[in-house]
Amino acid sequence: MGQATRDLYLDLLVKCLSNLIYGPPPLDPWNDGLFRANARPGRDRHSLVHTMVGILRLENVRELVQRAIDLAVPGDFIETGVWRGGCCILMRGVLAANLIDNRKVYVADSFAGLPPPNADLFPQDAGDILHTIPELSVSLDEVKTNFARYSLLDEQVVFTKGFFSDTLPSLEADPFAVIRLDGDMYESTYVALEALYPKLSLGGFIIIDDYGATEQCRKAVTDYRAKFDIGDKLQQVDWTAVYWQKAL
Ligand SMILES: C[S@@+](CC[C@H](N)C(=O)[O-])C[C@H]1O[C@@H](n2cnc3c(N)ncnc32)[C@H](O)[C@@H]1O
Repeated sequence: MGQATRDLYLDLLVKCLSNLIYGPPPLDPWNDGLFRANARPGRDRHSLVHTMVGILRLENVRELVQRAIDLAVPGDFIETGVWRGGCCILMRGVLAANLIDNRKVYVADSFAGLPPPNADLFPQDAGDILHTIPELSVSLDEVKTNFARYSLLDEQVVFTKGFFSDTLPSLEADPFAVIRLDGDMYESTYVALEALYPKLSLGGFIIIDDYGATEQCRKAVTDYRAKFDIGDKLQQVDWTAVYWQKAL
């Protein structure tokens, strides 16, 4: 597949994942009725999108997965906190567009929403109410169906079901080329960093979706980086997401 064909396919994938092709239905219980087709900032919600992250963060996923491939960074790809699966579908799509069949995409989620806060272990999450929001709970079947809609459900996609504290420490996968964290809470971010960051290849990328959006996420990242003396420069993606490249 040539560069132009690859770009055409991946441009279309990004537009489909953010529902820029058809727009939302006129009556949607989970949005404000406005459709902002111009560079969706990922702050709105509606019933059709397969990701809530917005165009800049999707383009960031596309760019970093492509860079990892081009730089021959060893390993697989993972997102922790996938909702309807869109970012992971894009990761799988970038692999497909590069005809890569020896790397996997790990799709990690409870597929049942966020955990209630565990304030004994993670006091930073005390009072968090995200676990009470039903729209944040998307079943494994629904996510698999979304992958299948793009013809991207195959053996290169690995689903890891359960709360991160139960699944990630024992995840049998190593190394990773790109890690994307999108679990909102302190616990969800810190547990994922502890379990996965040591497995990130040198030169690989870690993306933190909620860095600007939630204080708990930002604190988890700051604490982890301080504890392990990580000084790699944070790069801003949009109003919330950041990433850094693990120093070679
Ligand atoms: C903000 S949504 C993720 C958005 C998604 N990345 C996208 O592209 O639209 C947060 C997701 O994280 C999951 N989640 C958060 N904390 C979790 C945890 N500790 N264990 C398992 N899943 C968790 C929720 O179930 C939810 O699907």
